[in-house]
Amino acid sequence: MAVSRLMGSLLAMLAVLSLLSSPVSATRSLGGNCGLENGFYHHSCPNVESIIFQSMIASFNKDNTVAPGVLRLAYHDCFVRGCDASVLLDGPGLVEKNSTINVGLHGFEAIDAAKEAVEEACPGVVSCSDVLQFAVRDTVILTGGQGWTVPAGRRDGKVSKESEVAANLMTSDKNVPVLLEAFQKKGLSASQMVALAGAHTIGQAACINFDDRLHGKSVDPTLPAHFAADLKKKCPIAGITSTSVNLDLVSPKKFDTQYFKNIINKLGLLTSDQSMLDDSRTSGHVDVNTDASKFNSNFASAMVAMSKIDVLTGNQGEIRRQCRFAN
Ligand code: HEM
Repeated sequence: MAVSRLMGSLLAMLAVLSLLSSPVSATRSLGGNCGLENGFYHHSCPNVESIIFQSMIASFNKDNTVAPGVLRLAYHDCFVRGCDASVLLDGPGLVEKNSTINVGLHGFEAIDAAKEAVEEACPGVVSCSDVLQFAVRDTVILTGGQGWTVPAGRRDGKVSKESEVAANLMTSDKNVPVLLEAFQKKGLSASQMVALAGAHTIGQAACINFDDRLHGKSVDPTLPAHFAADLKKKCPIAGITSTSVNLDLVSPKKFDTQYFKNIINKLGLLTSDQSMLDDSRTSGHVDVNTDASKFNSNFASAMVAMSKIDVLTGNQGEIRRQCRFAN
């Protein structure tokens, strides 16, 4: 077990090193028209990505649930005030973390550890929002996905408000028309939304997040009987937050295409996931992403697009010293 974990880490390390040494990251090419650049830290903190990767390996080897935890942080950060690390702030006042939608967020310690390691090498240079985006890419590699070149140069926001969360992040009882509107407001297309939802190939959801399918007037008739019975055993009454169920019931720890295959087999856990099969604007993309090479490239480009939402650059914001507090 220890040997296979070591092998896994070594393979993942090789994967990330090949990304870091790619000509794209070495030449500071533009990462789009939002002010971010590939290779942004090439001169100011040349080893930043391998420092973060080492730190993420250590955190993942202690507790592999940090991978889905950190991956989810990308969505919850970028959709509220843009990718400015506002989700990482602890206060003062009621911050994004205090929203009921965000109660299950975790993985913050892994980001703290990565930032601390980076601060030791390059004090005051790398933003928490960039640390988060590099770390998110690394979690995908550590769970068997492919990774991508992360454009950088984000700066950190100083504001985080609980009151801004609910309007920007969807709950899982919503279906495609509502979800699509929310993603389009952030400049993301239907195909990008479906690819991003593929993040649910790893991690878990608390029972309360699929109460609408089990404990409404009747059990959701689109749930296959055996799946409904199994879920009811795990979540016998409404409102349970202490039990969680794998989002991908077949390969919950592997970043693969199984999430899409489950949806086609009507085994998506959340209403929001399963609804992607029922709308003509999304169903074709569910099919396409069952192909691993297409999913890997669609997911990578959608993650890069999401990582550019409303970023702060140049003289905006700040470089936080600690990710939980504005300077
Ligand atoms: C389409 C809209 C989305 C909805 C409605 C949604 C909803 C949810 C819900 C309800 C959970 C369970 C949380 C819990 O019980 O703790 C969850 C988990 C998760 N979500 Fe999403 N999500 C969406 C999109 C995304 C996106 C875009 C990403 C990342 C790219 C993402 C990544 C994750 C991950 C990795 C988990 C597992 C977290 C863990 O195991 O701790 N989600 N999501």
